[in-house]
Amino acid sequence: MLEAMREKFESLFDVKPEVSAFAPGRINLIGEHTDYNGGYVFPAAIELGTYGLAVKREDKLVRLYSNNFETVGMISFDLEHLDFHKEHDWANYPKGVIKYLVEAFSEINQGFDILVEGNIPNGASLSSSASIELLTGWLVKQLFNLNLERLELIKIGQRTENQFMGVNSGIMDQFIIGMGKAEHAILLDTATLDYEYVPAKFGDYVISIMNTNKRRSLTESKYNERRSECESALSSLQQKLNIESLGELTMEQFEKHQMLIKDDVKRKRAKHAVSENERTKLAYQALSVNDFEKFGHLLNDSHASLKDDYEVTGIELDTLAETAQQVEGVLGARMTGAGFAGCAIALVHKNQIQALEDEVSNKYIEKIGYEPSFYHVGISDGVKII
Ligand code: GLA
Repeated sequence: MLEAMREKFESLFDVKPEVSAFAPGRINLIGEHTDYNGGYVFPAAIELGTYGLAVKREDKLVRLYSNNFETVGMISFDLEHLDFHKEHDWANYPKGVIKYLVEAFSEINQGFDILVEGNIPNGASLSSSASIELLTGWLVKQLFNLNLERLELIKIGQRTENQFMGVNSGIMDQFIIGMGKAEHAILLDTATLDYEYVPAKFGDYVISIMNTNKRRSLTESKYNERRSECESALSSLQQKLNIESLGELTMEQFEKHQMLIKDDVKRKRAKHAVSENERTKLAYQALSVNDFEKFGHLLNDSHASLKDDYEVTGIELDTLAETAQQVEGVLGARMTGAGFAGCAIALVHKNQIQALEDEVSNKYIEKIGYEPSFYHVGISDGVKII
Protein backbone atom coordinates (compact mmCIF):
# COMPACT_ATOMS: atom_id res chain seq x y z
CA MET A 1 0.00 0.00 0.00
CA LEU A 2 2.79 2.43 0.92
CA GLU A 3 4.57 2.19 -2.45
CA ALA A 4 1.43 3.09 -4.36
CA MET A 5 0.75 5.86 -1.85
CA ARG A 6 4.21 7.35 -2.39
CA GLU A 7 3.62 7.52 -6.13
CA LYS A 8 0.21 9.06 -5.60
CA PHE A 9 1.72 11.57 -3.17
CA GLU A 10 4.26 12.74 -5.75
CA SER A 11 1.70 13.06 -8.47
CA LEU A 12 -0.67 15.02 -6.20
CA PHE A 13 1.81 17.34 -4.52
CA ASP A 14 4.81 17.30 -6.89
CA VAL A 15 7.24 16.52 -4.08
CA LYS A 16 8.36 13.47 -2.09
CA PRO A 17 6.89 12.86 1.37
CA GLU A 18 9.18 13.57 4.34
CA VAL A 19 7.44 11.47 6.97
CA SER A 20 5.04 8.54 7.21
CA ALA A 21 2.96 6.93 9.95
CA PHE A 22 0.33 4.27 10.67
CA ALA A 23 -2.54 4.40 13.15
CA PRO A 24 -4.61 1.27 13.85
CA GLY A 25 -8.34 0.85 14.35
CA ARG A 26 -9.66 -0.95 17.41
CA ILE A 27 -12.06 -3.48 18.78
CA ASN A 28 -13.33 -3.41 22.34
CA LEU A 29 -13.36 -6.84 23.99
CA ILE A 30 -15.76 -5.73 26.71
CA GLY A 31 -16.58 -2.59 28.72
CA GLU A 32 -19.01 -0.80 26.39
CA HIS A 33 -20.38 2.65 27.15
CA THR A 34 -18.46 2.66 30.40
CA ASP A 35 -15.71 5.11 29.41
CA TYR A 36 -17.81 8.24 29.99
CA ASN A 37 -19.12 6.71 33.21
CA GLY A 38 -15.77 6.43 34.97
CA GLY A 39 -15.61 2.66 34.41
CA TYR A 40 -13.24 0.13 32.90
CA VAL A 41 -12.78 -0.64 29.20
CA PHE A 42 -10.84 -3.51 27.63
CA PRO A 43 -9.96 -2.62 24.02
CA ALA A 44 -7.25 -3.80 21.61
CA ALA A 45 -5.76 -2.09 18.55
CA ILE A 46 -6.14 -4.04 15.28
CA GLU A 47 -4.01 -4.40 12.18
CA LEU A 48 -6.59 -2.61 10.05
CA GLY A 49 -5.80 1.09 10.16
CA THR A 50 -4.87 4.30 8.40
CA TYR A 51 -1.60 5.14 6.65
CA GLY A 52 -0.38 8.68 6.10
CA LEU A 53 2.41 10.54 4.31
CA ALA A 54 3.28 14.21 4.79
CA VAL A 55 5.61 17.02 3.78
CA LYS A 56 6.04 20.62 4.99
CA ARG A 57 5.21 23.56 2.75
CA GLU A 58 6.75 27.02 2.53
CA ASP A 59 3.43 28.85 2.96
CA LYS A 60 0.61 28.54 5.52
CA LEU A 61 -1.60 26.26 3.47
CA VAL A 62 -2.69 22.82 4.65
CA ARG A 63 -3.79 20.36 1.96
CA LEU A 64 -5.37 17.02 2.76
CA TYR A 65 -6.26 14.19 0.40
CA SER A 66 -7.76 10.78 1.18
CA ASN A 67 -7.61 7.87 -1.24
CA ASN A 68 -10.77 6.64 0.48
CA PHE A 69 -12.76 9.76 -0.43
CA GLU A 70 -11.58 10.56 -3.93
CA THR A 71 -14.87 12.16 -4.85
CA VAL A 72 -14.38 14.72 -2.07
CA GLY A 73 -11.08 15.65 -3.70
CA MET A 74 -8.38 17.86 -2.22
CA ILE A 75 -9.31 19.81 0.90
CA SER A 76 -7.28 22.99 1.49
CA PHE A 77 -7.36 25.53 4.29
CA ASP A 78 -5.15 28.08 5.92
CA LEU A 79 -3.28 27.39 9.17
CA GLU A 80 -4.85 30.54 10.53
CA HIS A 81 -8.44 29.49 9.77
CA LEU A 82 -9.07 26.21 11.50
CA ASP A 83 -12.81 26.06 12.04
CA PHE A 84 -15.22 23.20 11.40
CA HIS A 85 -16.63 23.28 7.87
CA LYS A 86 -19.30 20.79 6.91
CA GLU A 87 -18.11 20.71 3.31
CA HIS A 88 -14.66 19.65 4.49
CA ASP A 89 -16.25 16.28 5.20
CA TRP A 90 -13.79 13.62 6.51
CA ALA A 91 -11.03 16.27 6.69
CA ASN A 92 -12.69 17.87 9.72
CA TYR A 93 -11.12 15.13 11.88
CA PRO A 94 -7.52 15.99 10.97
CA LYS A 95 -8.46 19.66 10.93
CA GLY A 96 -9.64 19.56 14.55
CA VAL A 97 -6.43 17.86 15.62
CA ILE A 98 -4.36 20.42 13.71
CA LYS A 99 -6.27 23.26 15.36
CA TYR A 100 -5.51 22.03 18.88
CA LEU A 101 -1.90 21.22 18.01
CA VAL A 102 -1.39 24.73 16.64
CA GLU A 103 -2.81 26.13 19.89
CA ALA A 104 -0.36 24.05 21.92
CA PHE A 105 2.80 24.27 19.77
CA SER A 106 4.06 27.57 18.35
CA GLU A 107 6.61 25.60 16.27
CA ILE A 108 3.83 24.80 13.79
CA ASN A 109 4.33 27.93 11.69
CA GLN A 110 4.19 26.50 8.15
CA GLY A 111 1.58 24.55 6.28
CA PHE A 112 1.89 20.96 5.01
CA ASP A 113 0.45 18.40 2.61
CA ILE A 114 -0.95 15.08 3.81
CA LEU A 115 -2.13 12.00 1.93
CA VAL A 116 -4.02 9.29 3.83
CA GLU A 117 -5.45 5.89 3.00
CA GLY A 118 -7.11 3.43 5.33
CA ASN A 119 -8.39 -0.13 5.25
CA ILE A 120 -10.77 0.15 8.20
CA PRO A 121 -14.25 -0.27 6.76
CA ASN A 122 -16.05 3.03 7.07
CA GLY A 123 -18.76 3.38 9.72
CA ALA A 124 -17.97 -0.07 11.08
CA SER A 125 -17.45 1.17 14.66
CA LEU A 126 -13.81 0.12 14.47
CA SER A 127 -12.76 3.73 15.13
CA SER A 128 -11.67 4.97 11.75
CA SER A 129 -12.16 8.51 13.06
CA ALA A 130 -9.87 8.15 16.09
CA SER A 131 -7.40 6.42 13.79
CA ILE A 132 -7.19 9.43 11.46
CA GLU A 133 -6.98 11.79 14.44
CA LEU A 134 -4.01 10.04 15.98
CA LEU A 135 -2.39 9.55 12.58
CA THR A 136 -2.58 13.28 11.87
CA GLY A 137 -1.00 14.11 15.22
CA TRP A 138 1.84 11.66 14.70
CA LEU A 139 2.59 13.05 11.22
CA VAL A 140 2.59 16.66 12.44
CA LYS A 141 4.72 15.70 15.45
CA GLN A 142 7.39 14.35 13.09
CA LEU A 143 7.19 17.24 10.65
CA PHE A 144 7.85 19.84 13.37
CA ASN A 145 9.79 17.70 15.83
CA LEU A 146 7.20 18.38 18.50
CA ASN A 147 7.66 17.30 22.07
CA LEU A 148 4.21 15.72 21.97
CA GLU A 149 3.52 12.87 24.38
CA ARG A 150 1.11 10.09 23.44
CA LEU A 151 -1.28 10.96 26.25
CA GLU A 152 -1.43 14.59 25.19
CA LEU A 153 -2.29 13.58 21.63
CA ILE A 154 -4.91 11.13 22.94
CA LYS A 155 -6.59 14.01 24.77
CA ILE A 156 -6.39 16.22 21.70
CA GLY A 157 -8.10 13.45 19.70
CA GLN A 158 -10.90 13.22 22.26
CA ARG A 159 -11.22 17.00 22.31
CA THR A 160 -11.57 16.94 18.52
CA GLU A 161 -14.52 14.54 18.83
CA ASN A 162 -16.12 16.43 21.71
CA GLN A 163 -15.60 20.07 20.76
CA PHE A 164 -14.89 20.05 17.04
CA MET A 165 -17.20 17.24 15.87
CA GLY A 166 -19.81 17.54 18.64
CA VAL A 167 -19.78 13.89 19.76
CA ASN A 168 -19.45 13.55 23.53
CA SER A 169 -17.40 10.39 23.34
CA GLY A 170 -15.17 9.01 26.06
CA ILE A 171 -11.43 8.45 25.80
CA MET A 172 -11.34 4.73 24.94
CA ASP A 173 -10.78 4.91 21.19
CA GLN A 174 -8.03 7.50 21.22
CA PHE A 175 -6.37 5.82 24.19
CA ILE A 176 -6.09 2.38 22.62
CA ILE A 177 -5.03 3.79 19.26
CA GLY A 178 -2.39 5.89 20.98
CA MET A 179 -1.14 3.29 23.45
CA GLY A 180 -1.88 -0.11 21.86
CA LYS A 181 0.67 -2.89 21.83
CA ALA A 182 0.87 -5.88 19.45
CA GLU A 183 -0.81 -9.00 20.84
CA HIS A 184 -2.09 -7.14 23.89
CA ALA A 185 -5.34 -5.60 25.01
CA ILE A 186 -5.41 -2.74 27.51
CA LEU A 187 -7.45 -2.74 30.69
CA LEU A 188 -8.03 0.96 31.22
CA ASP A 189 -9.61 2.59 34.25
CA THR A 190 -11.20 5.64 32.65
CA ALA A 191 -11.61 7.35 36.03
CA THR A 192 -7.86 7.53 36.69
CA LEU A 193 -6.36 6.59 33.29
CA ASP A 194 -4.37 3.85 35.03
CA TYR A 195 -3.90 0.99 32.62
CA GLU A 196 -2.41 -2.43 32.21
CA TYR A 197 -1.31 -4.37 29.12
CA VAL A 198 -2.90 -7.83 29.10
CA PRO A 199 -1.79 -10.55 26.62
CA ALA A 200 -4.72 -11.05 24.25
CA LYS A 201 -4.16 -14.79 23.91
CA PHE A 202 -7.13 -17.12 23.86
CA GLY A 203 -5.51 -20.54 23.47
CA ASP A 204 -7.20 -22.33 20.56
CA TYR A 205 -9.72 -19.52 20.18
CA VAL A 206 -9.55 -16.40 18.05
CA ILE A 207 -11.53 -13.21 17.76
CA SER A 208 -13.64 -12.95 14.65
CA ILE A 209 -14.94 -9.51 13.66
CA MET A 210 -18.38 -9.54 12.01
CA ASN A 211 -19.61 -6.44 10.17
CA THR A 212 -23.33 -5.70 9.82
CA ASN A 213 -22.57 -3.58 6.74
CA LYS A 214 -25.45 -1.44 7.87
CA ARG A 215 -25.20 2.21 7.00
CA ARG A 216 -24.92 4.24 10.13
CA SER A 217 -27.58 6.77 10.87
CA LEU A 218 -28.21 9.02 13.85
CA THR A 219 -25.45 7.27 15.77
CA GLU A 220 -24.02 10.54 17.09
CA SER A 221 -27.28 11.92 18.42
CA LYS A 222 -28.27 8.62 20.04
CA TYR A 223 -24.81 8.36 21.54
CA ASN A 224 -25.06 11.81 23.09
CA GLU A 225 -28.56 10.95 24.35
CA ARG A 226 -27.26 7.85 26.17
CA ARG A 227 -24.53 9.87 27.74
CA SER A 228 -26.91 12.49 29.10
CA GLU A 229 -29.29 9.79 30.38
CA CYS A 230 -26.40 8.38 32.40
CA GLU A 231 -25.48 11.82 33.71
CA SER A 232 -29.02 12.45 34.79
CA ALA A 233 -29.20 9.02 36.52
CA LEU A 234 -25.94 9.83 38.28
CA SER A 235 -27.25 13.12 39.63
CA SER A 236 -30.33 11.34 41.02
CA LEU A 237 -28.08 8.88 42.83
CA GLN A 238 -25.91 11.72 44.11
CA GLN A 239 -28.85 12.93 46.23
CA LYS A 240 -27.91 10.16 48.66
CA LEU A 241 -24.57 8.79 47.51
CA ASN A 242 -21.21 10.49 47.61
CA ILE A 243 -20.01 9.35 44.19
CA GLU A 244 -18.53 11.07 41.16
CA SER A 245 -19.36 8.48 38.55
CA LEU A 246 -21.49 5.37 38.00
CA GLY A 247 -18.23 3.45 37.72
CA GLU A 248 -17.74 3.73 41.48
CA LEU A 249 -20.78 1.58 42.24
CA THR A 250 -20.98 -2.17 42.70
CA MET A 251 -24.16 -3.87 41.47
CA GLU A 252 -25.16 -4.43 45.07
CA GLN A 253 -24.92 -0.72 45.89
CA PHE A 254 -26.76 0.13 42.69
CA GLU A 255 -29.61 -2.22 43.46
CA LYS A 256 -29.97 -0.79 46.93
CA HIS A 257 -30.27 2.79 45.70
CA GLN A 258 -31.66 2.46 42.18
CA MET A 259 -35.11 3.76 43.11
CA LEU A 260 -33.59 7.20 43.56
CA ILE A 261 -33.69 7.23 39.77
CA LYS A 262 -37.36 7.84 39.06
CA ASP A 263 -37.28 7.43 35.31
CA ASP A 264 -37.39 3.77 34.18
CA VAL A 265 -35.32 4.35 31.06
CA LYS A 266 -32.56 6.23 32.88
CA ARG A 267 -32.50 3.53 35.58
CA LYS A 268 -31.91 0.88 32.90
CA ARG A 269 -29.12 2.92 31.34
CA ALA A 270 -27.38 3.27 34.70
CA LYS A 271 -27.85 -0.42 35.41
CA HIS A 272 -26.02 -1.25 32.20
CA ALA A 273 -23.15 1.10 33.05
CA VAL A 274 -22.71 -0.47 36.48
CA SER A 275 -23.18 -4.11 35.45
CA GLU A 276 -20.94 -3.73 32.39
CA ASN A 277 -18.20 -2.30 34.56
CA GLU A 278 -18.40 -5.33 36.84
CA ARG A 279 -18.36 -7.69 33.86
CA THR A 280 -15.27 -5.98 32.51
CA LYS A 281 -13.35 -6.55 35.73
CA LEU A 282 -14.52 -10.19 35.78
CA ALA A 283 -13.50 -10.65 32.15
CA TYR A 284 -10.03 -9.35 32.94
CA GLN A 285 -9.76 -11.84 35.81
CA ALA A 286 -11.06 -14.68 33.64
CA LEU A 287 -8.53 -13.93 30.92
CA SER A 288 -5.69 -13.76 33.46
CA VAL A 289 -6.38 -17.40 34.41
CA ASN A 290 -7.17 -18.55 30.84
CA ASP A 291 -10.81 -19.19 31.70
CA PHE A 292 -12.03 -18.57 28.16
CA GLU A 293 -15.46 -20.07 28.81
CA LYS A 294 -16.12 -17.59 31.56
CA PHE A 295 -14.80 -14.83 29.33
CA GLY A 296 -17.23 -15.93 26.60
CA HIS A 297 -20.21 -15.94 28.95
CA LEU A 298 -19.38 -12.40 29.96
CA LEU A 299 -19.35 -11.36 26.29
CA ASN A 300 -22.86 -12.82 25.91
CA ASP A 301 -24.09 -11.07 29.04
CA SER A 302 -22.60 -7.81 27.82
CA HIS A 303 -24.52 -8.07 24.55
CA ALA A 304 -27.78 -8.81 26.36
CA SER A 305 -27.29 -5.78 28.59
CA LEU A 306 -26.51 -3.53 25.61
CA LYS A 307 -29.63 -4.86 23.92
CA ASP A 308 -32.13 -4.77 26.78
CA ASP A 309 -30.89 -2.10 29.18
CA TYR A 310 -28.84 0.23 27.02
CA GLU A 311 -30.78 -0.34 23.78
CA VAL A 312 -27.94 0.32 21.38
CA THR A 313 -27.94 -2.90 19.35
CA GLY A 314 -30.69 -3.22 16.75
CA ILE A 315 -31.75 -6.20 14.67
CA GLU A 316 -28.56 -6.36 12.60
CA LEU A 317 -26.14 -6.53 15.55
CA ASP A 318 -28.50 -8.83 17.45
CA THR A 319 -28.70 -11.22 14.51
CA LEU A 320 -24.91 -11.37 14.22
CA ALA A 321 -24.17 -11.77 17.92
CA GLU A 322 -27.07 -14.04 18.84
CA THR A 323 -26.57 -16.32 15.85
CA ALA A 324 -22.84 -16.54 16.57
CA GLN A 325 -23.56 -17.44 20.20
CA GLN A 326 -25.38 -20.59 19.00
CA VAL A 327 -22.61 -21.83 16.70
CA GLU A 328 -20.63 -24.82 17.97
CA GLY A 329 -17.16 -23.77 19.04
CA VAL A 330 -18.17 -20.18 19.83
CA LEU A 331 -17.62 -19.24 23.48
CA GLY A 332 -19.25 -15.82 23.28
CA ALA A 333 -20.23 -12.92 21.04
CA ARG A 334 -21.24 -9.29 21.44
CA MET A 335 -21.46 -5.99 19.60
CA THR A 336 -18.35 -3.80 19.83
CA GLY A 337 -18.04 0.00 19.83
CA ALA A 338 -20.85 2.52 20.03
CA GLY A 339 -23.52 0.18 18.61
CA PHE A 340 -26.60 0.84 16.43
CA ALA A 341 -24.64 -0.49 13.43
CA GLY A 342 -21.04 -1.48 12.84
CA CYS A 343 -19.44 -4.67 14.09
CA ALA A 344 -19.80 -7.51 16.56
CA ILE A 345 -17.03 -9.83 17.73
CA ALA A 346 -17.08 -13.55 18.48
CA LEU A 347 -14.61 -15.71 20.37
CA VAL A 348 -14.47 -18.81 18.18
CA HIS A 349 -12.41 -22.00 18.10
CA LYS A 350 -9.87 -21.75 15.29
CA ASN A 351 -11.30 -24.88 13.60
CA GLN A 352 -14.81 -23.44 13.59
CA ILE A 353 -14.18 -20.14 11.83
CA GLN A 354 -15.70 -21.33 8.57
CA ALA A 355 -18.74 -22.77 10.35
CA LEU A 356 -19.22 -19.46 12.13
CA GLU A 357 -19.06 -17.50 8.88
CA ASP A 358 -21.41 -19.88 7.07
CA GLU A 359 -24.03 -20.09 9.79
CA VAL A 360 -23.99 -16.40 10.60
CA SER A 361 -24.08 -15.38 6.91
CA ASN A 362 -27.02 -17.65 6.15
CA LYS A 363 -29.08 -16.42 9.05
CA TYR A 364 -28.14 -12.79 8.45
CA ILE A 365 -29.04 -12.86 4.75
CA GLU A 366 -32.31 -14.61 5.55
CA LYS A 367 -33.27 -12.04 8.17
CA ILE A 368 -31.65 -8.82 7.00
CA GLY A 369 -31.46 -9.32 3.26
CA TYR A 370 -27.79 -8.61 2.55
CA GLU A 371 -24.42 -10.10 3.49
CA PRO A 372 -22.31 -9.41 6.55
CA SER A 373 -18.48 -9.31 6.28
CA PHE A 374 -15.90 -11.07 8.44
CA TYR A 375 -12.34 -10.06 9.33
CA HIS A 376 -9.59 -11.97 11.05
CA VAL A 377 -6.80 -9.61 11.92
CA GLY A 378 -4.01 -9.52 14.45
CA ILE A 379 -3.68 -7.16 17.39
CA SER A 380 -1.48 -4.22 16.52
CA ASP A 381 0.73 -1.58 18.05
CA GLY A 382 -0.65 1.88 18.58
CA VAL A 383 0.14 4.81 16.29
CA LYS A 384 3.68 4.64 14.95
CA ILE A 385 6.20 5.97 12.47
CA ILE A 386 6.69 3.63 9.52
C1 GLA B 1 -17.54 5.02 20.85
C2 GLA B 1 -16.87 6.12 21.66
C3 GLA B 1 -16.12 5.54 22.86
C4 GLA B 1 -17.00 4.61 23.68
C5 GLA B 1 -17.72 3.60 22.78
C6 GLA B 1 -18.74 2.80 23.53
O1 GLA B 1 -16.57 4.20 20.27
O2 GLA B 1 -15.98 6.85 20.86
O3 GLA B 1 -15.61 6.60 23.65
O4 GLA B 1 -17.91 5.32 24.45
O5 GLA B 1 -18.38 4.23 21.70
O6 GLA B 1 -18.12 2.00 24.49
